Amino acid sequence: MTAEDKQTSPGNDRRDFLGKAAKWVGAVICTALLFPLLRFLGFTIKPKPRYVTVAAPLPASGFHAERDFILFAGSKQPWAISRTCTHLGCRVNFLEDKQFIECPCHQSRFTTTGKLISGPAKKNLPTFTVESKSDESGRITGYVVTL
Ligand code: FES
Repeated sequence: MTAEDKQTSPGNDRRDFLGKAAKWVGAVICTALLFPLLRFLGFTIKPKPRYVTVAAPLPASGFHAERDFILFAGSKQPWAISRTCTHLGCRVNFLEDKQFIECPCHQSRFTTTGKLISGPAKKNLPTFTVESKSDESGRITGYVVTL
């Protein structure tokens, strides 16, 4: 058997094919494991910011509740608080008569600025940036909340 015969025999073709297939399978497995490994190490991709516009004026109560945030706007600078509880993620509610934010799941309580008052939650509620929009006369026409 010559060297040329060895290279073109069916056994070598099969061996080459299996070798290449094993390399491809290894590459796919490594790629599939890379993402969870990076997440474990703390690498995250920040999502694009989302902008929500709320028309002014707000009701006389001075707040507006959306799915993701509660917007407060009085005579001072407007501010927005996340509605996601820092304990286990339930959606918090603003109790207007008691003037605090409460989680319906385990009754964690927060001030209107998001500071923790009590409850199983250990962290304050996150805040969002709010920008006031006004017309040429200076009257506020709306608020843009950046989530
Ligand atoms: S989820 Fe809000 S207090 Fe537990």
